[in-house]
This record gives sequence, C-alpha cells and structure tokens, in this order.
Amino acid sequence: MTDERLDRRQLLVRGGLVAGATAVAGAGGYVVAREVSDSDGSADAAPPARTAADDGELFALDPGYTNLTTFLLASHPRPVRDAIERHRQGLDAGTALYLRQAEPAFEEEARAAAADYLGAGPEEVALTDSTTMGVALVYARLRAERGDEILTTEHDFYATHESLRLRAALDGVEVRRVRLYPLDRPETASADAIVSALVGGITPRTRAVALTWVHSSSGVKLPLREIADAVAQANDGRDESERVLLCVDGIHGFGVEDASPVDLGVDIFASGCHKWLFGPRGTGLVWASAQAWGRLRPTIPTFAGEAYAAWLFGGLPTDVAPGALNTPGGFHSFEHRWALAEAFALHAAELGGRAEVAARTHALARRLKEGLADIDGVAVKTPLGEELSAGLVCADLEALPARDAVDRLREEHKVVASVTPYATEYLRFGPSVANTEDDVDRTLEAVAALA
Ligand SMILES: Cc1ncc(COP(=O)(O)O)c(C=O)c1O
Repeated sequence: MTDERLDRRQLLVRGGLVAGATAVAGAGGYVVAREVSDSDGSADAAPPARTAADDGELFALDPGYTNLTTFLLASHPRPVRDAIERHRQGLDAGTALYLRQAEPAFEEEARAAAADYLGAGPEEVALTDSTTMGVALVYARLRAERGDEILTTEHDFYATHESLRLRAALDGVEVRRVRLYPLDRPETASADAIVSALVGGITPRTRAVALTWVHSSSGVKLPLREIADAVAQANDGRDESERVLLCVDGIHGFGVEDASPVDLGVDIFASGCHKWLFGPRGTGLVWASAQAWGRLRPTIPTFAGEAYAAWLFGGLPTDVAPGALNTPGGFHSFEHRWALAEAFALHAAELGGRAEVAARTHALARRLKEGLADIDGVAVKTPLGEELSAGLVCADLEALPARDAVDRLREEHKVVASVTPYATEYLRFGPSVANTEDDVDRTLEAVAALA
C-alpha cells in the first residue's frame, strides 16, 4: 500500500475543509484528521475518556485500550499531574500573588532541569510551547542573506518545511531538499548513504542544514554524530559567520535516546517536551551552543526581568542570557510549564535514567519490529538496526491501507495506533515507557488477525 494516492476529497476532509469535518479544522485538527484515522470522519474515533483515573498509577491511560500512540501527545505521568494540580491551585487561589512569589523560581527550575538533562548550561536553554514553535522561531531568524541556502531533506515534518517556506518567501533565502533514502523503502536506509547525500547537498552558500532526528514519516533515526562530523569537515576553513549550522527537530529522539544533542555535535536543537519525555502538554525547548545563539535573534519579546528593566530604563537587553532572551514572553499556561521539572526528575529517578529509558524503549520497539516481520503480509518500514531507529515503528500491510488498519485495530482489537501524517501513509506505532511487553504482544496478535 505504499505511495497510495489520495483523492482531493480525502485530502480536504482530512484538512477539515468540508462539511461534517469542521471539528478538525482548529487546534489539533491535523492530529485528528491525519494521524488518528477515521475514514468517514465521524466523531466517535477517539477512545472514551477514562472515568476513574487511578492516582496511584504512573499513567492514567484507559485500561480498556492498548495504546501505542502515547508519543503523539503525552499522557501526564503521576508526578507531572500532581505538580500541575499544585500550581493550578496556587494560581486559582490568587493568580497575581502566586505569580509574583513563584514565577522566577519555577521557571528557572524548569530551565535548569532541561539543561541538566541535556548536559548544557541553563543560559543556553529557551523554553517554548512546542517543537513547532521552536523550529519556527529558529528558521525565521537564523542569520542568512538573500541567496544563502538552507539545506533540508524530503523526509522532514510539516513544521520544518513550512517554516523554511515562510522564511524563503520573506527574504529570499533559498531552501534546497535532498533525499536521504528511498521514500518507499525507508527500511533500506544506510548511515553512509544518508551522510553522503547530505554532504553532497552542501554548497559554499549553505548556512544551515535543517534536519529531524527521528523521521515521523518512517521511524528512521539519523546518525547525528556522523552527520555532525561531516558538517564539521565541510566547515573547515569557513568563517564563523558562514559556518553551516546543524539544526535539528529532535522531538522523536528526545526522551528516548541515551544521547544528548550537545554531545552529538548539534548546533541548534528544538524539541517539544510533551511526547516521549512525557512532560506537560504545551512545553518545549530550544537549545543552541553559545556560537549558534550568536547567529539567532528573538522574534517574540522575552518577559525576562532584565529585558523588561532595560525597556523601562531606556537601555538594551544586552545582559540577558540567550536562553532567556529567546524564551517567548507573554503569560503562559504556567501550571504546565512549571511542572516540566517533574518530567525530567521522573526520567532520572523513577524511570531509571536516560540509559534505562532508552534500553526499555528500544527493547519494546525491537520486539514489535521482529514480531511484525514474522507476520505474512506485513512489511516493516523502519530499519531494524538501533543505530538507525528509535521508538517509532512503521509498517505496511499488503491487505489494508494504513488508515483502515488503524480503524480496525481500534474498533476490533482495542489497539490504538496511528497513521504517518505524510503523503505516503504507513501504519505507525510508538511503544514507550508507558507500555509493556504484553502491550506489544497484544498488538502483534491484532495485526496478525488483520494481515
Ligand atoms: C517530526 C515532528 N516534529 C514536530 C511535530 C510537532 O510537535 P509539536 O506538537 O511539539 O509542535 C511532530 C508531530 O507532532 C513531528 O512528527
């Protein structure tokens, strides 16, 4: 079923643009429309909400379903739920007072926890609301002139492609795309071919490469260390102002991999914290090295105290750390942002640390891929090897288009999967620390019943 062509009406329905589908046009529309398939657009696609969440359990997931889509948007784990509730009560009891007493400390705690997890300095971490916000802020203001190039790939998510299209339309920066592996055979991806396709796309005018750590179109994880080394070679002899910056949407590796973008040689890293990390919904970050921050400018005014004071007294925010300077101001859903530190603490303690989380997630993904590969009529589209894969697992069923498979898994087997939100649609699973081996085995049985 690879490369299935979509007719115009299907596309419009998925975009929420035809009668009966208006409910998916607003916030969250693309997820409802594209990832949690419901072929006739009716509203009963989502599993019923759990009514009696057991506060003792780490996750309050509906036990009536085997949910392999927890990566899509986090179900809040217990410590995050509790922290949100604490902050919500404080804000509801007296917003102005709680804000005044709490805000600087809680925001700094969240930033410090993120920095600690990344192995970076807190001054290098900007807090955002999502991957999309971070990616957009970076590509909108990355220093580059008319005719300079940003190199991206055919495999990236809408947020990267659209941010770059908007940038090109704004000031004539050129955007080029390369293909890193065959679109219909991602399982054949190889690290050498990926690196050489990328390096082959770099020209003297290239100022940045815009990549995605783990492709949500295929589950392919890019070999970032090898890519960083190759980009470093291409940078040999370049001035700092012309150095190619390695920029990464890290969302499907962040909270999965036992590696920090800092150690992998990335220059700029944007990620949500509300998928595999299981942070509060509506949280994210941008980390950049000190040199890379020097090539970025903020778009949304920060609410950092020093910047505000500079405005009050007629100065410039020259002393504000880049992370704070690039943290969009305005009031936020603070109870969520302030609960972010709890997600990092959860990974460090209750979940056993980054290495343990990576081992668990990879083990579940491996079990799933091996099981799927043994089922007749199922093609695993994500590479089997761990160097080119993370937690996402994509597959193709000979007998059924991906969105029909998702519907039938949910309706007939109470297994929740998703469809890749790309032109080529695959059946996609994301076993995570919220899942068990039993969940994987139930999913395999259900897929075998359909294949
Ligand atoms: C690669 C990739 N980047 C970004 C996003 C969007 O993330 P966010 O909701 O944090 O903006 C998604 C999917 O939701 C994705 O698959």
